[in-house]
Amino acid sequence: MRLKRIYPGFVERLGAGLRSGATAGEATFLVLAAGLAILVHPGVYVFGAAVILSVLIGLGFAWKKGKGTDIPPQFLDELSDQNYTCQPCTAANLRAATETVRPLFGRENIDADKIEQWRLKNPQGFMEIVDTAGDLIACFVVIGLPNSFMQEFSAGGLTEQNITGERVLDMRSTKKQPAIYISGIMVKDPGGTAGSVRAHYLIWSMLMYLKHHFGLKIARRFHAVPITDMSERLVKNLGFSIKSQADDRKDKHNFYSLNVDLAAWKKLLCRVGDFRAGCKMRYK
Ligand SMILES: CC(C)(COP(=O)(O)OP(=O)(O)OC[C@H]1O[C@@H](n2cnc3c(N)ncnc32)[C@H](O)[C@@H]1OP(=O)(O)O)[C@@H](O)C(=O)NCCC(=O)NCCS
Repeated sequence: MRLKRIYPGFVERLGAGLRSGATAGEATFLVLAAGLAILVHPGVYVFGAAVILSVLIGLGFAWKKGKGTDIPPQFLDELSDQNYTCQPCTAANLRAATETVRPLFGRENIDADKIEQWRLKNPQGFMEIVDTAGDLIACFVVIGLPNSFMQEFSAGGLTEQNITGERVLDMRSTKKQPAIYISGIMVKDPGGTAGSVRAHYLIWSMLMYLKHHFGLKIARRFHAVPITDMSERLVKNLGFSIKSQADDRKDKHNFYSLNVDLAAWKKLLCRVGDFRAGCKMRYK
């Protein structure tokens, strides 16, 4: 695993090695005081010399031991203050996200060129979360589809593979739809502490996004077809329930739905917490 070194300052370094330094200093003092007393003669100079040497050796040990640690970079992300931005995805980041999940999705992976055709129809439906270096942390895709397609899709006769660029609605039309499709979600390196932090940012950003674009004064229905166990767990955790069973569907995945109005949105927000300080939302 790639590791990053943390470099402490002068005082922090001595502080970090204090325990080892103190042990080394005490041991040195005992050996020196006894040795000098026997070899030379007991007295204040002998005692003073033993103290000075022990303190110097103790400090040396503390300096050596407190030199810093190698830790996995993802924990650095989690430990440092977040400074993320959630904004419409660049074509390059969308492609990178598609390539990242390809091994998980196998044959069900939608081709990056096809997803780019979707994005061109509604760039605001494809959102990325990036850090200050511009590195992709997470992304989500929320699209509108014609009612007739949505009905057939939710009944199980059509699959995500049937979504073409022409079928994806522009943002203006998407906002008017009673049912919206959450097509993709991903976080960088899911699992573990840092992955969980990213998932929390993802959920919070999605909630901000849904409120911004859909208002939610009138309830909207959100649909999702999770194709991995991880995403199925997440949608269940968000309160989605199965609308059509995998066995009855062409894609052989459960089709989930969730009604969201302002009250439901507030409940979800309370559960995930307030991440405003760590993530700026840019909708255009
Ligand atoms: C799908 C994906 C984004 C889910 O992220 P995840 O980190 O695995 O999600 P988890 O279910 O572990 O949830 C992460 C955290 O959010 C919390 N959480 C989940 N739902 C929540 C909710 N509604 N409110 C508050 N917190 C919630 C969980 O409790 C968990 O926190 P914890 O680690 O402190 O227990 C991620 O696994 C991923 O990117 N997978 C690869 C791509 C993929 O499969 N995409 C789906 C395509 S259909």
